[in-house]
Amino acid sequence: MRKTLVIFAVLLAGLQALAQDIKAGPWVCNVRENTVTVLWTSEEPGMAWVELEDGSRHYETFAGRRVFGRLHSIRLDGFNPGQLVRYRVGGQVLVNDAKPRKPVFGKDYSGGWNSIRTFDSSRAECSFSVFNDIHMRRKDYMALAAQVNPSETDFIFLNGDIVSAGNYELDTLVRYSIEPLGGLAAGLPLLFARGNHEGRGNNVKLVADVYPNTDPAPFYYTFREGPVAFVVFDGGETGTSRSVLFSGSEVYEDYLREQILWARKALFEAPFSEAPVKVCMVHVPMIDHPQKGDYHLQRWMNREMVPLLNEAGIDLMIGADLHVLMYCEPGSMGNDFPIIVNDDARRLDCRYSGGTFSVRMYAPSGRLEFSKDVKVR
Ligand SMILES: [Fe+2]
Repeated sequence: MRKTLVIFAVLLAGLQALAQDIKAGPWVCNVRENTVTVLWTSEEPGMAWVELEDGSRHYETFAGRRVFGRLHSIRLDGFNPGQLVRYRVGGQVLVNDAKPRKPVFGKDYSGGWNSIRTFDSSRAECSFSVFNDIHMRRKDYMALAAQVNPSETDFIFLNGDIVSAGNYELDTLVRYSIEPLGGLAAGLPLLFARGNHEGRGNNVKLVADVYPNTDPAPFYYTFREGPVAFVVFDGGETGTSRSVLFSGSEVYEDYLREQILWARKALFEAPFSEAPVKVCMVHVPMIDHPQKGDYHLQRWMNREMVPLLNEAGIDLMIGADLHVLMYCEPGSMGNDFPIIVNDDARRLDCRYSGGTFSVRMYAPSGRLEFSKDVKVR
């Protein structure tokens, strides 16, 4: 009996050792109809791969070399729309790289099997859950995430300020942005709009590495799931001092004009223009805020960007940033579409089906606290 227990303990320790090099993740970004990018962090730097159900291994490489870091990011292509991709992550720890011509690798590790479904524009419906302005409140974030039913949700959208301003460091960023999602992150596509806090401090490029997106830029892009095309913008900084100076020499103004130039083309060409329904996701809501002493950026975006979005046929805007719930009727501020601003304490679930967006907001307790059905024009 004692011998059996010892063998069991040794086996268990061996199994844990196999998986112990995964520190956080996996999570999946940059999902489209034919591509996914799988990410995770490892305890130690090392070689990394994603294994698919057919046994093929896809390594993390850069310019013809396998790379040995702690944040692993592997893009996989060639899938079909709506394909269920079974995958697991693995790697080999780098033990010694003192000799550049002969790095020494140690043990292999691998995680469990997960599944992720690619987007599919032929689907009739689209459902997603939005988190924003969590500001490192892990407990609320975990409570809100635990309520999400992955079988009824197509993707998770992080609408900015999930973390607060700071000098970002990989493990901190992942601990507060990704880990509270638990198992959702491995099985649902994760999309991201940068909040003003994710643009502050040093090392801001790391944020783009955690949520890789390439088409055309890390923080502004389009994607489509089912009948709904989404455009994502990055409003940059919103604080009072910055906002007052916003029309001066701010680089953010150039950055916004770059986005407007891009949107003037992207929103009027296929595939975006062909979608029957269109949603704008943005951390800074483009509202004509009644408090004229501040919120200059919101009003600037309202003036400069909303007419373009009207012309592009946007049906709904989902914003964040203000830490209050707001619903702006179409026509109330130059907008042909409703603008919904989620506050900082709730998850916003949105489902599009049969010409109607059903928007619901839930508290960490699970209580339904806001409900609005928006008919598409
Ligand atoms: Fe915020």
